[in-house]
Amino acid sequence: MKVAIASDHGGMNIRQEIKKLMEEMGIEYIDLGCECEGSVDYPDYAVPVAEKVASGEVDRGILICGTGIGMSIAANKVKGVRCALVHDLYSARMTREHNDSNVLAMGERVIGPGLAREIAKVWLTTEFAGGRHANRVNKIEKYEQERL
Ligand code: RB5
Repeated sequence: MKVAIASDHGGMNIRQEIKKLMEEMGIEYIDLGCECEGSVDYPDYAVPVAEKVASGEVDRGILICGTGIGMSIAANKVKGVRCALVHDLYSARMTREHNDSNVLAMGERVIGPGLAREIAKVWLTTEFAGGRHANRVNKIEKYEQERL
């Protein structure tokens, strides 16, 4: 599995924590920033990660900002991306099993690095359950193909 990761200035600490986790797990990643000292704009980081997922250049994306909300809104504008904003372990598992989410968003001003690390670990290792959930994901993809 190959992962693209990015954050704005509000998510830099958790980004470093998740990079360490992926190194421990032997997961290949590309870090798309930010290398910011000041304030930056989260869409400038969400969209490049989302586009790499949508194009198949990477399998998954991880985005961190202050709340995770801006990152998830921006990433979900990219066709083919199913970005889940997650701050608990149950949702981390369920969004993989039920939604086949391919991008994870988290907020560094909402949760600490320990929980973020556990969420990422569960999200990276949980498989999509398929079956009836695949029908539902297919309906989202059909809408994207026909209407967007
Ligand atoms: C930046 O101050 C903050 O707005 C951003 O990190 C994020 O929380 C947006 O949703």
